[in-house]
Amino acid sequence: MADNYLEKREQEIREGRPKAVKPHPSLESLLKKNRSYRGYDASRPITREDLLRLLEVTRWVGSGMNAQPLRYRLVCSEEAARVHPLVKLGAALPEEHLPHPGEEPSAYIVVCSTAPEGKVVDIDLGIAAQSILLKAVEAGFGGIFILNFRADDLREALDLPLQPIAVIGLGKPSESIFFTDAKPGDSLDYYRKGGAHFVPKLKVEDILI
Ligand SMILES: Cc1cc2nc3c(=O)[nH]c(=O)nc-3n(C[C@H](O)[C@H](O)[C@H](O)COP(=O)(O)O)c2cc1C
Repeated sequence: MADNYLEKREQEIREGRPKAVKPHPSLESLLKKNRSYRGYDASRPITREDLLRLLEVTRWVGSGMNAQPLRYRLVCSEEAARVHPLVKLGAALPEEHLPHPGEEPSAYIVVCSTAPEGKVVDIDLGIAAQSILLKAVEAGFGGIFILNFRADDLREALDLPLQPIAVIGLGKPSESIFFTDAKPGDSLDYYRKGGAHFVPKLKVEDILI
C-alpha cells in the first residue's frame, strides 16, 4: 500500500502497540465549533499551503448547473494587512471596534464570481464558504464569513480581475464563543459579556412550521 500501512501495522503488532486510531470529529462537533470568530492569535498564522488545503474542499461541493463560477484569491502574510481596514467585523456591536488591533484574521480568502451575482451564484457561495470554514475548524483554525466589506476598494487593493462578492477571514481563534437558547421573540443579536461572545440560537421545535 502506498502509505506502508501493512509494514507499519506489522511493526505495531511486533512492538505490542495498539492500532493508532485518529479520532475523527463528528459533523455536529465541527458545526458547533464553526462560529464566527472576530479575534485571532497572531502567533499562529495561516500559510498559503494551509489556505490551499482549505480551498481543496470546494472541488467536491455542488454548484447550480455545475457551472462552478466562483474564483478565489488567497491572501496571507503581510498582504493580509491590506484587507484588515476594508472588512467590518461585529457591526451589531457598535460599542466595540473589532477585531482588537493585533487580533485580526491572519489570512483571507476573497471570493469572486465569473457570472453575475444572483440566487444560484449566492447559493454556490454559501455552500463553498461553509465547506471551507468547516475544513478550517477540522484543521484547528476558525474563520468568519464577511459580506460587510468595501468591494471596490478591495478589488483595487488586491488588483483583482473580478468583483469580489465575499470575504472569508481565517486564523487561529483567540476568543471563546458560547451558544444561548433563544425563544421566538427574543433578541437574536449576538453580544459580549465578561470577555466572552454569546450567540443566541433558536431550538428545533421553534423553527418547525
Ligand atoms: C451571509 C453572512 C454574512 C455575514 N457577514 C458578516 C460580516 O460582514 N461581518 C461580521 O462580523 N459577521 C458576518 N457574518 C457572521 C454573522 O454575524 C454570524 O454568523 C452570526 O452572528 C451568528 O454567529 P455564528 O456564526 O457564530 O453562529 C455573516 C454571516 C453570514 C452567514
